Amino acid sequence: MKPRIVITGAGGQVGSYLSGYAGQLGHPVAAYTSAQWDITDPAAAEHHIDAGDVVVNCAAFTSVDAAENHPDRAYAVNVAGPENIARACARVGARLIHISTDYVFSGVFDGPARPYEPVDATGPLSVYGRTKLAGELAVLGALPDATVARTAWVYTGAHGSDFAAVMRAKAATDDVVDVVADQVGSPTYVGDLCAALVEIAEVGPEPSVLHVANSGPTSRFDQARAVFALVGADPERVRPVGTDAHPRPAPRPPFSALGGEMYARAGLTPLRPWQEALAEALSTAR
Ligand SMILES: NC(=O)c1ccc[n+]([C@@H]2O[C@H](COP(=O)([O-])OP(=O)(O)OC[C@H]3O[C@@H](n4cnc5c(N)ncnc54)[C@H](OP(=O)(O)O)[C@@H]3O)[C@@H](O)[C@H]2O)c1
Repeated sequence: MKPRIVITGAGGQVGSYLSGYAGQLGHPVAAYTSAQWDITDPAAAEHHIDAGDVVVNCAAFTSVDAAENHPDRAYAVNVAGPENIARACARVGARLIHISTDYVFSGVFDGPARPYEPVDATGPLSVYGRTKLAGELAVLGALPDATVARTAWVYTGAHGSDFAAVMRAKAATDDVVDVVADQVGSPTYVGDLCAALVEIAEVGPEPSVLHVANSGPTSRFDQARAVFALVGADPERVRPVGTDAHPRPAPRPPFSALGGEMYARAGLTPLRPWQEALAEALSTAR
């Protein structure tokens, strides 16, 4: 029988997509928004988890810039919250897939940059990255069998606030758009991420830290140009700028692409190249 999938942060980008998707695949689903289950409440988790469940923690403090000014809240949601869930899973006999981020890496290399694998040294630059890394360690400390699934640059491509959706909306105007060309990462379609999360839920693979991202590093600038081209707009309306043209409170790693070698070696289905995923996302998103 397919395990029940219990989803926290179900009002968010990943949680809401996963709730629908896992249900379509025939999994019983129990999905909780932040109003229904505040993961920072240590007593709450056990009310929602049963033996044999697979919990997918999609809840997080995800505003990278706001975290700089709210480190205590970011810590509560990204570290104490996941630890609460992991402890409850350990007590009742449930599994946990905890979602983390490419921002646990610094993006600074001694030699040439290359996609990060789970064995690479971390070095977060921001409060968000530090709390997400501490959350990984807290989860694995409380529940060594948990899976940490690091993903990156997640988008729906639909009408929302994710990068692909914003670029799609810009493409429908006559605007010229300046986009940073010196940040490189792994754009990841939420549909592909959720398919991978369900596979991980069904297979329960080793190792405990996995990189789950569409393949192939690219810059925000190249991703934006690809969006414009795919929706029939002129890609030349996207102009490259440096990160210094868009100063933000939290530093971003200049290169945080995630590699899929260890993921494939774990016997999991490799995620497709980012260009293919983006094309499908934009053709299906309304
Ligand atoms: N989006 C990306 O590009 C990206 C990249 C790498 C990793 N990730 C990771 O992917 C995961 C899912 O992110 P997402 O993109 O779906 O972010 P999201 O859209 O911001 O969703 C996060 C959800 O967490 C909820 N939440 C916040 N505090 C909570 C609490 N105390 N208890 C319960 N729920 C709480 C939020 O609810 P409210 O809105 O009500 O506060 C929101 O629904 C996170 O772990 C994130 O770090 C995302």
